[in-house]
Amino acid sequence: MTGHVALVSAGPGDPDLLTVKALRLIRAADAILYDDLSARAILDHARADARLIDVGKRAGRPSCKQGVICAMLVDLALGGARVVRLKSGDAAIFGRLEEELLALRAAGIAHEVVPGVSSASAAAAAARIPLTRRLTARRVQFITGHDVNGKLPESLNLGALADPEATTALFMGKRTFPELARRLIAAGLPPETPALLAESISQPGQRLTRSTVAALAAMLADGPGEAPGLILYGPLAEMQP
Ligand SMILES: C[S@@+](CC[C@H](N)C(=O)[O-])C[C@H]1O[C@@H](n2cnc3c(N)ncnc32)[C@H](O)[C@@H]1O
Repeated sequence: MTGHVALVSAGPGDPDLLTVKALRLIRAADAILYDDLSARAILDHARADARLIDVGKRAGRPSCKQGVICAMLVDLALGGARVVRLKSGDAAIFGRLEEELLALRAAGIAHEVVPGVSSASAAAAAARIPLTRRLTARRVQFITGHDVNGKLPESLNLGALADPEATTALFMGKRTFPELARRLIAAGLPPETPALLAESISQPGQRLTRSTVAALAAMLADGPGEAPGLILYGPLAEMQP
């Protein structure tokens, strides 16, 4: 009997932010493939005899090649396993979901995607601010701060990114934010636009830095640090201390 693969959103790290469906699948899984951003606490819910496979996909560190991960998912399912592929935040956002879906489809493996809490939503919740505001932030955009070479993507839509009426959530962008900020300010975004750096959200080392676009860029130019971080900027509501 062929098994099944569930591509499960792990949320930002705190097991309390898993969906009920994600928890049910994790508890039933024969094998779980996870990456470093999926906090270990979530794996405590796995069966004692489940195979836990670290495929570490965190930027800047050695990780399994995407093709190897796809092949593992297919092989495990062909062997009859119920497989969970845990993906940080929401699986559909900057998570290489498409490659895994295509591999499973091509191999004829039954699969499903389980949505979850993105670090963008979790960052706003941690700072107790909304992502949209009725009159001042009518649009939210999710962008990546690095391309396949780890550099700031060339094809930036600066008109959209410097829109003073949009909230922007920047993923994987701590290292490139100084350059992005320089280009945003040159495109007309006021340097004093509010910005939030949310690091290790919902994990033990969670840290929120409330700042402005210009001041945060200056801070990150001195060293972005290792912790996973998400940056929100735009007409952010007043943040709670
Ligand atoms: C490969 S992307 C995955 C995004 C994920 N699918 C999501 O919806 O949050 C990894 C980036 O997500 C952000 N991220 C994920 N988990 C985080 C956390 N617990 N705290 C802060 N940022 C996080 C960081 O910007 C990190 O570089």
